[in-house]
Amino acid sequence: PGWVLALRNGLSNLGLPDEFLERLFSRWAGSGSGQRLEIPQARGSVDAVAGQAFFIPLYELFLTYGGIFRLNFGPKSFLIISDPDIAKHILKNNSRAYSKGILAEILEFVMGKGLIPADGELWRVRRRAIVPALHQKYVAAMINLFGEASFRLCEKLDAAASDGEDVEMESLFSRLTLDIIGKAVFNYEFDSLTHDNGIVEAVYVALREAEMRSTSPIPTWEIPIWKDISPRQRKVSEALKLINTTLDDLIAICKRMVEQEELRFHEEYMNEQDPSILHFLLASGDDVSSKQLRDDLMTMLIAGHETSAAVLTWTFYLLSKAPEVVAKLQDEVDSVLGDRSPTIEDMKKLKYTTRVINESLRLYPQPPVLIRRSLEDDVLGKYPIKRGEDIFISVWNLHRSPKHWVDAESFNPERWPLDGPNPNESNQNFSYLPFGGGPRKCIGDMFATFETVVATAMLIRRFNFQIALGAPPVEMTTGATIHTTKGLKMTVTAISSGAPKEDQQDEISTAAHQSQQVTG
Ligand code: HEM
Repeated sequence: PGWVLALRNGLSNLGLPDEFLERLFSRWAGSGSGQRLEIPQARGSVDAVAGQAFFIPLYELFLTYGGIFRLNFGPKSFLIISDPDIAKHILKNNSRAYSKGILAEILEFVMGKGLIPADGELWRVRRRAIVPALHQKYVAAMINLFGEASFRLCEKLDAAASDGEDVEMESLFSRLTLDIIGKAVFNYEFDSLTHDNGIVEAVYVALREAEMRSTSPIPTWEIPIWKDISPRQRKVSEALKLINTTLDDLIAICKRMVEQEELRFHEEYMNEQDPSILHFLLASGDDVSSKQLRDDLMTMLIAGHETSAAVLTWTFYLLSKAPEVVAKLQDEVDSVLGDRSPTIEDMKKLKYTTRVINESLRLYPQPPVLIRRSLEDDVLGKYPIKRGEDIFISVWNLHRSPKHWVDAESFNPERWPLDGPNPNESNQNFSYLPFGGGPRKCIGDMFATFETVVATAMLIRRFNFQIALGAPPVEMTTGATIHTTKGLKMTVTAISSGAPKEDQQDEISTAAHQSQQVTG
């Protein structure tokens, strides 16, 4: 029972040896039935999981084995959690008893001890330093940045639409969100929507490596000689070196700016020319090594880049199959924004657009699983667990659980009433947790929601989007976020004012294809 474990943990914290406690408490284990309660173990699982986006077979196993089960994968064993109460216990009620486990080990090479992998006191100190940087005034300034970057994407799409060329939206969204996060975090203009350069490529090399490491069963990068001679690993080291030098330069430039400025630091401090998080941290006198600062900046770059890009990719995929939702979106955007750029006040008014993002995050949570490791013995539901268990909380399963959702698989923004609260883990009792929950909840939740709302609104008022004729089927694969296997190829048609919208879309896109064939 829980109180026995609590007592045991208390005595262990007082310094009593584990072997002694083990003997003393063994008679209580599984008391009642007379035997220890065993967590259901998934069978035949290794074959089922290999070779596809791993969270898909985990869903089937969840339907068979329930909200907590064990999965053996070679010599490793994982607990898979798909139960909202257990998720809440791990992430919130007893969060101190859990670390980031394997995730921290995998991401160490790129994030070091940045905010995502960090644990314990270091995490507490860094979180306290960084969170205040994302204050209200900062977020309001970011809305302009989202608008400007989305406008540049619109220009690109305009050119493609008038040339009758199809576009690959997944990579464009990735570039859009890279441009945004570079400015937002350390005032760097990647300008990746306009052109490629060494640093953009270096960021992608690092990201792909992080994704490869999180899904690879054999850690080849740890083999001593291999890691020095493998061309791939050499490329990764060079990319990281370039990123680190660039970050060091940006930190130095920003330090000089802070020294020269006359602004006094206060709660809503922001330099108008450079509203970045880095500038806030330096101006606040954040007393931190440059390595730690770099790790935190790199962490935010990665955390805020591919997540938002994936949300936009899957939102536009979902919209391509839901013309009635698109029509409602376009009506809302026309009446709230017209031709203007969005402002912070508009964020409250773009209610339906926000619901579309909420619903897209339910169906395609980024990342689809959260990773933890138990730091002490605990009880999950009715099952005692040991210290050192690796745990996957499947947000994918929680968000699609037939127990909690009506028509769980269907894209239905209307399931979230417009006059209701914005859905989050608290008001949905951990059945919905797109930004995690508890003390390790995402610090960029509002930033990311507004970013994806602005981009969606600005694109949808100018263009109609359809899956391109002859495009490869849109299937999922996974790294840290859910990617498509072969991109999201779309036909984009400009909506000129007074021109037909969704209902005449078919004719328009057929015409675009014909013109492409003729010109191409
Ligand atoms: C943590 C999702 C955008 C920075 C998280 C977590 C989730 C998440 C689920 C919790 C991870 C866990 O508990 O293991 C998302 C999604 C985003 C997004 C879906 C976009 C739609 C951003 C942005 C930033 C950011 C834009 C940066 C400004 C972070 C950081 C953490 C985090 C630093 C770690 C917090 C901590 O451990 O204390 N995010 N995120 N995220 N996110 Fe986000």
